[in-house]
Parts: sequence; C-alpha cells; structure tokens
Amino acid sequence: MQWDFQDIDNQARTQAQAINSPQALEAFRLQYLGKKGLVAAIFASLGAAEPGLKAAIGKGANDLRALVENLIATKSAELNSVEVQEERIDISLPGAGEALGHTHILTQTMQEIISIFEQMGFVTIETPEIETEFHNFTGLNIPIDHPSRDAFDTFYLDAEDLSAKGRRLLLRSHTSGGQVRIMKQHKPPMAVIVPGRVYRPDAVDASHSFMFHQVEGLLVDEKVQFSELKGLLTEFCRRFFGPKVIMRFRPHFFPFTEPSAEVDINAQVLGIQRKKWLEILGCGMVNPKVFEVVGYPKGKYKGLAFGMGVERMAMLKYGINDIRLFYENDVRFLKQF
Ligand code: PHE
Repeated sequence: MQWDFQDIDNQARTQAQAINSPQALEAFRLQYLGKKGLVAAIFASLGAAEPGLKAAIGKGANDLRALVENLIATKSAELNSVEVQEERIDISLPGAGEALGHTHILTQTMQEIISIFEQMGFVTIETPEIETEFHNFTGLNIPIDHPSRDAFDTFYLDAEDLSAKGRRLLLRSHTSGGQVRIMKQHKPPMAVIVPGRVYRPDAVDASHSFMFHQVEGLLVDEKVQFSELKGLLTEFCRRFFGPKVIMRFRPHFFPFTEPSAEVDINAQVLGIQRKKWLEILGCGMVNPKVFEVVGYPKGKYKGLAFGMGVERMAMLKYGINDIRLFYENDVRFLKQF
C-alpha cells in the first residue's frame, strides 16, 4: 500500500479549516486518530509493506498524528474563544429596562372627567360604595315597591343599616345616593361631583356589566334652570370629545329629577359605526321632593343633577367596542392607552 503523505496532510489541513462546531471537531478526530481511523490504518499496513518503505511509512504516520493533534488543539481553542465571546456580557449595552405600568384607561377617563368639572368650579366628594336603602332609593323618591326599582335592584348585604331599623345595606346601584348624603350635610350653594363604582344585576354583554363607574354631578342654588343643565353638559361634552361632538337630549323619567332627560352621543360622528347613538348619561332638575327629604326650606332652592357612565364615555372616545375589555386586564389592551 502506497501512502501519499503530502496529499493526506494537505487534506487534513483543509478539512480542519472548515470545522465550526465541537461535533465536527470530534468527527475529525475520529476520522484520523480513532481506533478505525486513518493513522491506525497506516500502522496496520506496515506488516505488509515492503521492508525498504517501512521506516518512511512509520514516520509519515507519526507525523500525521502530530499534525492532526496540533490542528485539533488549535481548532479547539478557536471554538472555545468563539463560545466565550458569545457568552460575554457587554456591559456597555443599554439595559433592557423594567416594563413600567400606568394608570388604567378607566382611571384616566375618570380623572379627565373630574378635571373638566373641577375647571368649571365643581368640587369632588366620594361617598360609600356600600349604601343604605335610604340613600340609594327612598331618599331619592324611589319608594320600596316602585317598579323603577327593578332595573336598579342590586346586591344586598347580609347586614342591617344601623341607622334605620329593618333596612338593609347594599352595593349602590348608582352614585345618586351621594346627592342625598351631601345635601344632608351641606347647605347650598354647592357644585359637587361624586365619582365611583356602581353595581347592577345586569347580564354581562358587550355594553353591560354588573359593575361599572359613574360620575354624578349636583349643582344647587337659588336660581338654577334647565338651560344651564343643557349648557353645562354641552360644554362638558365638547371639552371631552372635541368640538365635533353631536349630542341629543331625550326626555326620560327619573323619580329624583323633574323634568328628566337622557343624553345620547352620535357615535358615527366620532368614527364608531356599530350603533348610531350611545346613551352616556341621565340628568334633570332636582325633584323638590328630594329637597324636602334633606330638609331644605320649601321652594327656596333649585338644582340640576346628572350621572354619567364612565365606561361608555371611554368607549366612545377611544373606539372600544366591548365593555368587558376594561376588566380583563390583558396587557395588550391596556398598553394601548
Ligand atoms: N342615577 C341615574 C342612573 O344611574 C342617572 C341620573 C343621575 C339621572 C342624576 C338624573 C340625575 O341612571
């Protein structure tokens, strides 16, 4: 058997150059130095070799082994340094940073509504989410057995109202109870808003939820007229939605205001196609019966009141088409605002 050592050496060098992984390096080692490798094969051929060539073949095999060992050592060092480089931490790179949270879109909307009314001179007061039947219903001229209570009937607590025997406590179904609380404690003139959560036994769908947010407004003075209610809410909607907003006042009934209206916003003008009009608030002139309940002198005061749904306002302003998105807390939704 003839061995062309120059050719074999060259081939080993070329092969070694192309190695780029520890696996390829091991295959290379086995090919030359393994039990069935080339170096072993060359030594094995010695027995049958012509006597005059044995010395040269033995030297060639030894040199080849030395060469391959050398190539492996060099390549191995090279591969290690590449790995180390890949792992090395570059301390000059900017950090990944913490993901910062921010206020929920509903909180932002509440704050915006509150700030517009505060600019108009209103003061913010919060009243309890757990209310008495008196503040939530009776004090607002909603008798215990009145049919209009059905839509408002809410979640009752297994606890008695300590201030009125036999009366229960409940999760308020609207912020209007705040009107009664505040008027019992303060004398006019007053202009207050009452923001907060309310609860209703509504089936949950794209526009209803058993819990949502309202901002109540109440302004009482000796001379207050319906035109002022209309002007105030129109100006508010322009500031909140922008000057293009189109609203309509629709006659309605509430036991605690007379006359009463509901306000709808034209959703199409705001670029939302689903439905043309979306109701955002109820309002009216404070019913004298409520003034009577809180002990104001008969005929002395007039008042305007309104209660708006915060979710509806946000849906219109930001083009959100499903109320449930507010409560799922999916970061992909929340971070858009
Ligand atoms: N409380 C009424 C509701 O929840 C809204 C309202 C507030 C109506 C104040 C008139 C005056 O629908």
